[in-house]
Amino acid sequence: MITGIRLNHSYSINNSLPQIIAAAGSEDTALLITDVRALKQQLDLLAQVFPEGTRHAVAIKTNPHKQVLATILAHGFDLEAASIEEVDLALSAGATPKQIVFDSPVKTRNEIEQCSSYPGMQINANMLSELQRYPTSLNCQLGLRINPGIDTGAPEMYAVSTDESKFGVPLAAEADILAACLKHPITALHMHSGSQMSDLAVQLKAIRRLFELAEAIDAHRASHNNDWRINTINIGGGLPAEPELEQPMMRSYAAQVTELAANYPSHLLRTEFGQWTHRAAGYALTRVEYVGEGSVPNIFVHLGADLFTRHVYAPAAPLAFKVLNPDGSEKSGPDQRYNVAGPLCFAGDYLARDIELPLINEGDWLLISNVGANTYGLWSRHCTRTIPKVLGIDLSGSISQWSDRQRIAY
Ligand SMILES: Cc1ncc(COP(=O)(O)O)c(C=O)c1O
Repeated sequence: MITGIRLNHSYSINNSLPQIIAAAGSEDTALLITDVRALKQQLDLLAQVFPEGTRHAVAIKTNPHKQVLATILAHGFDLEAASIEEVDLALSAGATPKQIVFDSPVKTRNEIEQCSSYPGMQINANMLSELQRYPTSLNCQLGLRINPGIDTGAPEMYAVSTDESKFGVPLAAEADILAACLKHPITALHMHSGSQMSDLAVQLKAIRRLFELAEAIDAHRASHNNDWRINTINIGGGLPAEPELEQPMMRSYAAQVTELAANYPSHLLRTEFGQWTHRAAGYALTRVEYVGEGSVPNIFVHLGADLFTRHVYAPAAPLAFKVLNPDGSEKSGPDQRYNVAGPLCFAGDYLARDIELPLINEGDWLLISNVGANTYGLWSRHCTRTIPKVLGIDLSGSISQWSDRQRIAY
């Protein structure tokens, strides 16, 4: 039985569950799984709905597991790095510099020097003052992050385009931007308006403004006999994962971006979708350690705010649970009401409260679906609990171990 949101892809891991659980050792109180079939389905859709030639750099922070990154690269997609550590991770997963967009808002001088030498890597400066830190001769592609100053309906915590944002140069500073573009070889404009945007009409207006700014920069340069030109418009990520199999929001967004971009044929498009790409491809399994007492008993499980940092500290969408017998077969009714209590030592560490699930016993497993985004990469060291083993399901449906259980080392 699934509670909460529906799955948004056509692959089911149900048949694989007995095999996955049989492979769990006695120490494996929890397991994480990536289904490459679901990940590829999202990547294929991106390739299909955006204009030909668009480069999609999937945000590493959303799921930084090296095998996940290698899978994305193997399918011909790029990676967006938010730190020098993510740049190094991308390179070690097999990315060429050209396949990396480097977006850290706080780059050191050393990081800038290192990345400036990588041929074709797109490095987006966050502020005009950051531009002063770049060497005069660059092998990388220099971009400038623009803050469109819009409200896309993204939750406050993830909205990065407000006037107070620490990200990007405000569009209103156009005169300063034009002047900077005469001094620095900026060839890309970048924006990422926020995560889980709901008002895409506003976002589309901002993209139009970005194209117009690119035209204004190039006209200004031409009038000053300057040969540098903007050739890349990076529109960031920000779409929420969609519950519908057909992914109508992404299809409609991409169709509108495509229509708009057709007016600016000399600009390559780049995107940076994280959550939309990853969410449906990830599953978590936890053993039920024991069941408490009371009218709505707690079931005590081995994953809580350590894996589900965002879900527990800033609750939004509910998690989707399924109960499995110890052999991995699915459990069905009769339904009981339970709280799902996580293992961390603070009162708020609950994954759900007062939800209906089939009758649960010690040794059963809880499968949590749609958790491929912003979970593994946000693992919290609170209480020093071990990071679970990660398994992958490949395109043929076979299962392999991608990484060991990993103790936290201080
Ligand atoms: C610069 C940048 N690009 C892309 C993303 C991915 O965002 P989302 O997961 O909402 O697509 C983020 C998320 O924080 C980001 O900061």
